[in-house]
Amino acid sequence: MKKLSPSMLAADFGILKEQIGLIEKAGAEYLHIDVMDGIFVPNISFGAPVYKSLRKYSNMIFDVHLMITEPIRYVEDFVKAGADIVNFHVEATDDPKGTIDKIKSLGVRAGITIKPNTNVSAIEPYLGDVSLVLVMTVEPGFGGQKLMPECLDKISELKRIREEKGYDYEIEVDGGVGSGNIRQVMESGVDVVVAGSAVMGAEDIEKAAKDMLAVIREYD
Ligand code: DX5
Ligand code: ZN
Repeated sequence: MKKLSPSMLAADFGILKEQIGLIEKAGAEYLHIDVMDGIFVPNISFGAPVYKSLRKYSNMIFDVHLMITEPIRYVEDFVKAGADIVNFHVEATDDPKGTIDKIKSLGVRAGITIKPNTNVSAIEPYLGDVSLVLVMTVEPGFGGQKLMPECLDKISELKRIREEKGYDYEIEVDGGVGSGNIRQVMESGVDVVVAGSAVMGAEDIEKAAKDMLAVIREYD
């Protein structure tokens, strides 16, 4: 099934619990949680304690996107805080395999992420070990940027490899997705769509999530 993963980064943190409730009510399956350290990306967002406090209010799959250097150092904290999927950037570590093994040893799903200028070949050795591949369609660090359509070409490559090798990862797209390009994104064959400003930043969050889910469902 195709899924929507609204990004918490665009939420009003003063009323986070209420806003998360709206997207869950709309039927979003995943909650995308962007953790930034100010080193791997030039921005700082929030850490594990913030989403830990949401865990008891939500049954959504917590899809944690780590934009931090050497993520292995904090994997345990992120899992303990309630992550269901831990995505890390291949560019952020010297030991992608060790990081994947650590995530999986804690009983959650591992995801590997690539920035716009990173080719699929950089993660090919790890594709048999992950449950999710996150393809960035903007430079990580900020919400509200414009989608780089050329990044969508990586999706067909990832689908081909999955098919050829019998792998079973989901393919997720993150950055600049909105009502104007959701169909183009779905046509690429993606499984999970992240949307920050287009959903959590909308005037009517529940409606924005429902509208986007209605399009996503057409591609099931
Ligand atoms: C960017 C983050 C994205 C961001 C998406 O570094 O990884 O998840 O929240 O926001 P939009 O959908 O507004 O581009
Ligand atoms: Zn993200």
